[in-house]
Amino acid sequence: MTVINRESGTSIDEVADGLYRITTPIPPSVFLGGFSFNQYLVLDDEPLLFHAGPRRTFDLVRQAIAAVVPVERLHWIGFSHVESDECGALNQLPAAAPHALPVCGRVAAMVSMEDLADRTPRALGNGEILVMGRRTYAWLDAPHLPHGWECGFLMERTSGTFLCHAPFTQPGDRTPALTEADILSPSEAMRHQMDYFAHGRDYAALFDHLIAERPTTLACMHGSAWRGDGAALLAALRDSLAGN
Ligand SMILES: [Fe+2]
Ligand SMILES: [Fe+2]
Repeated sequence: MTVINRESGTSIDEVADGLYRITTPIPPSVFLGGFSFNQYLVLDDEPLLFHAGPRRTFDLVRQAIAAVVPVERLHWIGFSHVESDECGALNQLPAAAPHALPVCGRVAAMVSMEDLADRTPRALGNGEILVMGRRTYAWLDAPHLPHGWECGFLMERTSGTFLCHAPFTQPGDRTPALTEADILSPSEAMRHQMDYFAHGRDYAALFDHLIAERPTTLACMHGSAWRGDGAALLAALRDSLAGN
């Protein structure tokens, strides 16, 4: 682990080959039980940051990127849906990265980003491929999972790396960078407390598609990244949602 800022507790860790979790903890005094906001940096010819983070943590995220790769090399800033923790700093990062472009689903581009983003986003359709160099990521539309019509994820099929955002939202401000432990129970406990999932009609078909991707590393936005049988984990979440 590389500590970026002692006051905020921001740190960066490599959790898979060329995949880095940047995390900033929120202490229990601010959020009951503690919480965390993560961004993921993917190295390649065209490095990607998945989630820009809130505007207030822009400088911390910038410093964390710089610990691994010169910030000006950042090429893509991806996000799953339009909220401040996903894309608040979207217009601040390009000041440090002159070639950086937002990348998101077509719905996010149409509804929000063609107006909100200072640079025209690369808008990906469902299944469309983003080539970053030796890595390719597929955009997967995931409307309303957990919320937002525009929601979607990025999946690297060769490595099984799933930039999956928030379906597995774990509490705690000191979570390990990577875990193989149960993350479904704590994330389901949070969902039952806070009810932040939309009540989507097409979850069954959507889960079928995601399970068929058979991810092995999940880049979760809150808490630890996770390694294991992602198809089984997604099926367990699907079944839990069906039972409410
Ligand atoms: Fe969200
Ligand atoms: Fe969010």
